[in-house]
Amino acid sequence: MKSPRILMCPPTHFGIEYEINPWMNRFRPANRELAEQQWYDLVVVLEGSGATIDLLKPVPGLPDMVFTANAALIIEQRAVLSNFRFTERQREIGYTADWFRNAGFDVETLPEEMLFEGTGDALFCGDTLFAGYPIRSQLIGHHHIGEQLECRVISLVLCDSCFYHLDTCFCPLGPEIAVWYPGAFDDYGRAVLREQIPELIAVTPEEAHHFACNAVVVGTTVVTNAGCPKLHEQLRAHGFRPVETPLSEFVKSGGSAKCLT
Ligand code: ARG
Repeated sequence: MKSPRILMCPPTHFGIEYEINPWMNRFRPANRELAEQQWYDLVVVLEGSGATIDLLKPVPGLPDMVFTANAALIIEQRAVLSNFRFTERQREIGYTADWFRNAGFDVETLPEEMLFEGTGDALFCGDTLFAGYPIRSQLIGHHHIGEQLECRVISLVLCDSCFYHLDTCFCPLGPEIAVWYPGAFDDYGRAVLREQIPELIAVTPEEAHHFACNAVVVGTTVVTNAGCPKLHEQLRAHGFRPVETPLSEFVKSGGSAKCLT
């Protein structure tokens, strides 16, 4: 297996400084020291699983920059930059664009008015790009990306505001297998996913709220937040190696393992 390359951003300036999803509450602050420890432990687990970690320099005043999943959609050497919905996160784009350029990626943009939040809302399962909307990203952006990348895009409505990005309720494990939380989709979305993906592993509402679907896949290793034992059991039965690592401080911001990569 080729070592996957993962971009992360240290939580030096992480915090709950505004509220842009139902998980965030300024009166329930993150413990910075614990966040640093949890983030570092995640790095160790990912490196131990064979990933190579690249680091983005954290910027003061950008507390959500730690969630690099939202920076861009990456396809080999191409990086399609995000257009964040909320002004609170828009300033991240300049810094991440510079990082991708310096790292030798072909940086592509979408028309400004098309909201799109990177791999938070767009995940490949096989050759098909599954894309979530309308809580953060917009349908029109999906069409544009499909044309730009010449790939098939299937757009899915996210209908529970706790699962506002696709990566909070859907995680491809391989071309024909994925983890999902059915409760986050509408009837059409559920039917399409069942029809398109031969093997779907469903998580319970309780584990979905522990961000079970927000997993990082490195080969056969699947890394999640703590508190997802039922999913881990199912993963083992399917031949995967689940690993848990506590990420409570990031859950306070509406994010977990996958969002941090
Ligand atoms: N507080 C961040 C936001 O609301 C969390 C982002 C989580 N990222 C993700 N890929 N789901 O934007």
